[in-house]
Amino acid sequence: MVGKITVITGPMYSGKTTELLSFVEIYNIGKKKTIVFKPSIDNRYGTDTVSTHTGFQVKAIRISKSKEILDYLKDGIDAVFVDEIQFLDVELVDIVKKLVFDGIDVYCAGLDISYLENPFETTSKLLAIADEVIKKKAVCEKCGEHRATYSYKIVPNGGEIDVGGKDKYIAVCRECLKKLKTE
Ligand code: ADP
Ligand code: TMP
Ligand code: MG
Ligand code: ZN
Repeated sequence: MVGKITVITGPMYSGKTTELLSFVEIYNIGKKKTIVFKPSIDNRYGTDTVSTHTGFQVKAIRISKSKEILDYLKDGIDAVFVDEIQFLDVELVDIVKKLVFDGIDVYCAGLDISYLENPFETTSKLLAIADEVIKKKAVCEKCGEHRATYSYKIVPNGGEIDVGGKDKYIAVCRECLKKLKTE
């Protein structure tokens, strides 16, 4: 038996983590064995959990390198979940491939592009090999339409990797991004 690869992507606040955790629940209800990982760089809302912006949390193992996932895999794991994949190294792609050939389902969630609109490499590569891609949209915080595909940085400081929430980023649609760029 082989597993399947599902990638959940989109801008900030689009519900990626919510959707990832809803899949965790589905497996848990079915008495399947699950394991959740997140990169240690993401320290928002507590260190040993994956958290949504609404505060829903699930226990998670923090890793700093993708290959650490292999250290935690015991026999009998049915599904592996990884949040914030944009922060993990590209070796995650080879690990995901190995897991599915070992019969494990893999669910990954993360940003497709940075606020500079550059694709995140690990997300891009996983999207390319996914069996299912779930592309989420957020509510545009300028016009209120449910069509935001961009994460816009509202503070000038910080780099392309800069952990934060509403203090730093808002979700906007392309129309509103265009306006913001010409303001
Ligand atoms: P993600 O992981 O994609 O950043 P989460 O699943 O953590 O998203 O959070 C989604 C939740 O964020 C929504 O259910 C909603 O309560 C909240 N939220 C805050 N701002 C927005 C927005 N602009 N659009 C949609 N949801 C938002
Ligand atoms: P979220 O998708 O669950 O909201 O989390 C995205 C995280 O990524 C959050 O900590 C902010 C961070 N981030 C960056 O580091 N660079 C970026 O360009 C963007 C848009 C977000
Ligand atoms: Mg999230
Ligand atoms: Zn808009």
